[in-house]
Amino acid sequence: MALLGVNIDHVATVRQARRTDEPDPVWTAAEAELGGADGITFHLREDRRHIQDRDARLLSETVGVKLNMEMAAADEIVAIALELKPDQCTLVPERREEITTEGGLDVVRHRSRIEPAVKRLRDAGIIVSAFIEPIGEQVRASAVMGFQAIELWTGAYAHAKTPATQLAALDALRSGIKVGREVGLEVHGGHGLTYRNIAPIASMPGFGEFNIGHSIISRAVFVGIREAVREMKELLIRHAPR
Ligand code: PXP
Repeated sequence: MALLGVNIDHVATVRQARRTDEPDPVWTAAEAELGGADGITFHLREDRRHIQDRDARLLSETVGVKLNMEMAAADEIVAIALELKPDQCTLVPERREEITTEGGLDVVRHRSRIEPAVKRLRDAGIIVSAFIEPIGEQVRASAVMGFQAIELWTGAYAHAKTPATQLAALDALRSGIKVGREVGLEVHGGHGLTYRNIAPIASMPGFGEFNIGHSIISRAVFVGIREAVREMKELLIRHAPR
């Protein structure tokens, strides 16, 4: 069954709305662990719009499950990752004007910038994952560039407006998983996954990890972090491939 990584950035977004010290994403990570999270994911953006350096440091000191740091392949952020040594770094595209990470990283186009970052992180013993769209060329290039894992962008599935586009997005994910496994990559999934749309994705064989943020934190406003994580974990168990 795939692991559940809980993305806690959204709690830091609420805190930063007031530039105060609550709610604390570090507390969120502890609560998520108590709810059964297999991993904690955070994104240290170059513009520091939500997670701050202090959060990244405390998370690296306190999280007991797999710690996954999302980041751009930027020198300043790579240096921080090398110091904090999370279990995994997921390289993502970053644009200042975006609301959240939109679409995957184009590893083919940005190869010359990305490849040295992958090497430095790998050499430090960190698992390096590429957040990419489920396109064969991107998957194969990720393996060639030294990534050990890919996180397939599930946004096309999550945002699909018709059953036909949703089925096409599921097909693309299925073939992305197939190519990824053939070239020896661990395959993860994430973006836009919710309690309502997780079942077809959770039941797809080949996913090793899901990273889910917005939907879990939204539910947590009403039921608390621990319960929200427990409910998502239960769905992953119920719909796990047989
Ligand atoms: N995976 C990656 C690489 C992301 O950038 C994000 C969004 O920060 C997520 C997963 C989680 O997406 P969502 O908040 O839509 O669940």
